[in-house]
This record gives sequence, C-alpha cells and structure tokens, in this order.
Amino acid sequence: MASKQWTKTTFPLNTDAQIPAIGLGTWQSQPNEVREAVKTALLKGYRHIDTALAYGNENEVGQGIKDSGVPREEIWITTKLDNPWHKRVEEGIESSLKSLGVDYVDLYLMHWPSSTDPTDLKKHLPDWDFRDTWAEMQKLPASGRVKNIGVSNFAIKNLEKLLADERTKTVPAVNQIELHPNCPSPKLLQYLKEKNIHATAYSCLGSTDSPLYQNETLKKLAASKGKTVQQVLLMWGLQRGTSVIPKSVTASRIEANFEVDGWELTDDEMKQIDAMPERFKVCGDGWLPVKVFFGDDE
Ligand SMILES: NC(=O)c1ccc[n+]([C@@H]2O[C@H](COP(=O)([O-])OP(=O)(O)OC[C@H]3O[C@@H](n4cnc5c(N)ncnc54)[C@H](OP(=O)(O)O)[C@@H]3O)[C@@H](O)[C@H]2O)c1
Repeated sequence: MASKQWTKTTFPLNTDAQIPAIGLGTWQSQPNEVREAVKTALLKGYRHIDTALAYGNENEVGQGIKDSGVPREEIWITTKLDNPWHKRVEEGIESSLKSLGVDYVDLYLMHWPSSTDPTDLKKHLPDWDFRDTWAEMQKLPASGRVKNIGVSNFAIKNLEKLLADERTKTVPAVNQIELHPNCPSPKLLQYLKEKNIHATAYSCLGSTDSPLYQNETLKKLAASKGKTVQQVLLMWGLQRGTSVIPKSVTASRIEANFEVDGWELTDDEMKQIDAMPERFKVCGDGWLPVKVFFGDDE
C-alpha cells in the first residue's frame, strides 16, 4: 500500500459507478469563498465535490467548477435533497441542477430521513416518510439527470425499514454519515458492507473547531510520520474503505488535505486510532422533528 495513489483512487458502488476517494466538502463554506475553494481544489486535482441544496451554495459551487476549466465529465458532483422538499423530489433535483448549472449530478442523496413540513419546519409531514421519498427518488436515474442515488444520516434501523419496503427496488449506492475517530460506528459500517452500500465519511476531520486537532494520540502519531493531524485523519478514513470529503475554504489546507499519496498508516497505527476512547457527534438530530439516531452506532 506504500505507493498507493489515493488521489487517483475510486471506490466501486453497487451500480458499478466509481466514486473518487477524496472530495471537497462545502457545508458552511460561505458565499465569496466557496467558488474559489472549489476552483482551487479542482486545479489541485480533486475530482469530487460535495454540496447540498441546504448549504445554499450550489450556485457558487457550479461557478467554481466552471472557473476551473476542468471538464464536467471528469468531476463527481454529489448534492442532496433537503428535508422540506421530500414531497417535491422533481422540483428539488431541478432546483439543484439549475443552481449548479449542470445537466446531471453523479450522486443525489436524501440528506436526512426526515420528511419535514415545508410550512412548519418543526413538524413532520403527517402522510409521508422517507420510504415515500425514496420511491420518488428511484425514478430519477432513468431520466439521466442523476447517475446514482443514495441516502445520508441513515442508521441501521432506518435502513432496515427502507430495504423492507416493498416499493424499494434500488438499494442506496451510498450512505453519507458522520465518521471520525470519535464517531467510528463500526456496527453501521459492517451493516453497510453486508448490504453493499458504500460509506462516505462526513465531518471526517471532526468539523468546525475540531477537538481532534488537539488530541495527543493523533498529534504524536502525526509528528512521528512527518504528517499533519488532518492528513492522518483522512488516511485513517481512506484505509477503512470510506470516501472522505474534508471541507476547507483555505487554499493551503485544501492542498495539504490532498497530500495523501505514497504513504500509509500501519496496522498498529490504525489500531491506536481505533482505540481512542472519546466519543462525540457533530450532527445530532435534536433540530429535526423526528429522531433519526438511536444511540451510539445504531
Ligand atoms: N450529509 C450530511 O448531513 C453532512 C453533514 C455534515 C457535513 N457534510 C459534508 O461533509 C463535509 C465535511 O464535513 P464538515 O464540513 O462538517 O467538517 P470537516 O471537513 O471535518 O472539517 C472542516 C473544518 O476543518 C478545517 N480544516 C480543514 N482542513 C484543515 C487543515 N488541513 N488544517 C486545519 N484545519 C482544517 C476547516 O477550516 P477552513 O474551512 O476554515 O479552512 C473547517 O473548519 C461538509 O463540508 C459537507 O460537504 C455532510
């Protein structure tokens, strides 16, 4: 693995598509910075950009893609259906395509298993849930506007519910979930493996003001390898077989986060990180009208 070129590596999906192992995250990337960040990333060699209708930045992400001059077909674009749009899948995808300025996205995710009432964000729709949304999303690939469909923030319990529904004909290609050493979710990862659903790791650095950057185990390990804590975190995610989508709007960090070729973490180093005892979650479900997480890793 020492010579592995992670920046050129892709993971196969159950649709036979190949998702690039490293992408640029864009949550909380502000207007006037995300356009430049996307361009910087693409010029550095990134070929995977993660956005969402809910981030309110698809327009600028699309502009950054155009600014880069990298051909559309070389880039993997993921975007997501927002919770208050569950009954309006058709409108949701059309809105995203228009904002991004593209004819298709490579991956369209249901952002959360929460069908929120658009007139009152504190309420769940009384006559609709994520299984109804998925039934609508399944129709999209036939139109060519969406190459692959998947989910995000799905725990085992909700995946079971989705897969058991008689209308579910397409197994999600991806489940995008929070994964970092303080939220490793081994049970969920094992379940996804069994179902042939690829996991993408979000908040893979621990998100804004990450406490992981001060972690002594990680600091020591990074220093011993001449790498940054962030690079070690990304390598840990990659070697676990998950794609990683670190967010940054800082050019030097965008570039450094892509320096993951030609080195590796040994089994012992992976185990040291696996053994870190602290637990925290960046994205909870307290703000949603419905519970979607059911205890650690379930
Ligand atoms: N599906 C979902 O529900 C969901 C939820 C959360 C996130 N996501 C996706 O996953 C992506 C990543 O997660 P995230 O945004 O929560 O956080 P993250 O990528 O774990 O961390 C981002 C934070 O780390 C900083 N950072 C990045 N590289 C760094 C480096 N080399 N050195 C020091 N600091 C560095 C960034 O600062 P600067 O930007 O200031 O450089 C930012 O504050 C999101 O952007 C989004 O695309 C999806």
